[in-house]
Amino acid sequence: MENKYTYKPIGVFDSGFGGLTILKEIVSVLPQYDYLYLGDNARAPYGSRSFESVYEYTLQCVNYLFNQGCELVILACNTASAKALRNIQQKDLPLVAPNKRVLGVIRPTTEVVGNYSKTKHVGLLATSGTVASNSYLVEIQKFFPEIHLYQQACPMWVPLIENNELSNEGADYFIKKNCAELIIQQPLIDSVILGCTHYPLIADKIKLYLPPRINLIWQGTIVASGLENYLFRHPEMADKCSKQGTLKFLTTDVPDLFNKSASRFFGNDVKADRIEL
Ligand code: DGL
Repeated sequence: MENKYTYKPIGVFDSGFGGLTILKEIVSVLPQYDYLYLGDNARAPYGSRSFESVYEYTLQCVNYLFNQGCELVILACNTASAKALRNIQQKDLPLVAPNKRVLGVIRPTTEVVGNYSKTKHVGLLATSGTVASNSYLVEIQKFFPEIHLYQQACPMWVPLIENNELSNEGADYFIKKNCAELIIQQPLIDSVILGCTHYPLIADKIKLYLPPRINLIWQGTIVASGLENYLFRHPEMADKCSKQGTLKFLTTDVPDLFNKSASRFFGNDVKADRIEL
């Protein structure tokens, strides 16, 4: 019998490893789909790069995933969602791939954030790029205008995480410092968004340096159920994506390095192939 299977995986993109914390949750909610993960490790971190660079790199990676057969790509990176998603959705997609879709991680988070806070004072810990874009502020205003958002950039956290430098005093110094800088902005903050896909790896330390009453808002489960809901509301897209339950990993850097660190983020062994963009 002829094999009609055409590989049309859901693309999941991040500057490096962080998107694996999102992919892990997506796969556990929607295991039937094929997934193709791309980490632009050679050019990570994106967090302190200009708007233009993040947009250019993200678009290049999205196009690469489209060329591999992806009909739907998730930007599992807050920095790329903040700095590139709107342009890609509004300017590029209509020209290059009008029937394909690119979704981010900020919108699903801001759609539910109001359900977490009683005091209506919410904190955001994120990269400098995400904070400077004000994307969370703009999106939260649309869904929960009564919420006050306090933003804190944590520029050292991604490099510390990517370099696995978490068990030294330097890491504690920066995590403690940025948590204190957030809370001092508004002591009534009762919920804090982990607005960078890398941060689940240091959630224990973040908890340690925030007051114990604070709810941490994790994006993995939120984005996974947002995607499930999206595919339910868009059966034409759900039909197009192939479903053989496969997982493939790509990196723009050396695979051995990627594989070593990736399992810390994904929770399982990862074997990646290297690509040239
Ligand atoms: N993981 C990305 C995010 O969620 C940022 C990491 C980076 O700076 O490249 O914002």
